[in-house]
Amino acid sequence: MTRESSQSTETQLRRRVEDLESQLAQAQKLLAIGSLAGGVAHDFNNLLTAILGYASVLREDPAIPPHVLEALDVIEKAAERASQLTAQILGFARRGTGRRTRVDVHHTLSEVADLLRHTIDKNIRLESKLEAATPRVMGEASQIFQVFLNLALNARDAMSEGGTLTLGTENAGGSVRVLVSDTGPGIPEPIRGRIFEPFFTTKDPGKGTGMGLTVVQSIVRAHGGSIELDDSGPGACFHVLLPLARDRAPLSGEPAAAAAQKGRGCVLVVDDEEVVRQVAVRMLASAGYTAVCVRDAQAALDYYQERGCEIDIVIVDLVMPGLSGGQLFEQLREIDPSVRIVLTSGYNRDAAIDALIAAGAKGFLQKPYRLAKLAETLRTALEA
Ligand SMILES: Nc1ncnc2c1ncn2[C@@H]1O[C@H](COP(=O)(O)OP(=O)(O)OP(=O)(O)O)[C@@H](O)[C@H]1O
Ligand SMILES: [Mg+2]
Repeated sequence: MTRESSQSTETQLRRRVEDLESQLAQAQKLLAIGSLAGGVAHDFNNLLTAILGYASVLREDPAIPPHVLEALDVIEKAAERASQLTAQILGFARRGTGRRTRVDVHHTLSEVADLLRHTIDKNIRLESKLEAATPRVMGEASQIFQVFLNLALNARDAMSEGGTLTLGTENAGGSVRVLVSDTGPGIPEPIRGRIFEPFFTTKDPGKGTGMGLTVVQSIVRAHGGSIELDDSGPGACFHVLLPLARDRAPLSGEPAAAAAQKGRGCVLVVDDEEVVRQVAVRMLASAGYTAVCVRDAQAALDYYQERGCEIDIVIVDLVMPGLSGGQLFEQLREIDPSVRIVLTSGYNRDAAIDALIAAGAKGFLQKPYRLAKLAETLRTALEA
């Protein structure tokens, strides 16, 4: 080996090491942000449960004056937006732990298109070229929705002067390729390498978090896929590659929201957050139930030992100081094997929750929940 070539190998190696070091630093940064943000989002969901819960209780009042209704609308819209945000953060913080089903990407894209049609400016044309013959992938429907929504929103933001947003699909080997392209100004060369970085944004302060593409990339990777920016066109075009689902996986479909129907019975609510206990009592009363609240697992066990026969169902928060919801579930079943338990959490449904459901828990209530959802979950759990 000549001296020059050994030097150049050394330089290459050094570059490679530097590259790997920066990738590692990036991964560590993401992990730290992830666990921090996950905690914040979880606490936030408790507060949102109180806000949305009380709003839905107020709505039940037939004598409510129009100006209060109007205020309620705004409160609910804002809280819903906040809850989408926390879902986004949680999706990022605990990526890939939710329930995976077979997801029809064409269905997801048409949901994204529907949402956009109602919210984007008239000067942006929306086009679909859904050409994949097999559009089914395995994954979490809400996360996949999030991926395409984030990409589409970026495209919208890039076309403030108007243009065309195109959602396309094609099959490529064992994958489906989704293309989200726009006719905006494109992404300037110097920042192309940075767009997936957490908190990287070119938007005005308060306009963008810079987390959109970070979340997109982490979800896509957790689904075994990849994302690339195609900079050949004048605008921006993102290619998302997702592996196809094998057949026979369960097909996803959100249950339609049922109207609140009155129930009957006594519910024991176990939650360490006072606002959640307060609003739960109000919502349960509106739904026709009586409620008893306790703040931790030990208090729940004590209560159940003494007066378990009066309780028809127990709503258990999964994350509490002391005994966890999962442990409480086990111990309650020791006292009374026929106890009915519904789990609730500010975190997204994950494998641990699936395991508890498989072990006999009667349902899962994702916080923040509203009256209709609470009533429906209890009704189903009591009938089961
Ligand atoms: N379609 C696009 N056209 C032009 N620039 C884009 C496009 N998509 C992303 N970018 C650039 O990449 C940056 C990072 O995007 P990302 O979605 O991560 O954050 P953001 O859109 O700025 O903030 P947020 O997603 O929270 O609204 C953007 O600020 C923008 O500069
Ligand atoms: Mg964005």
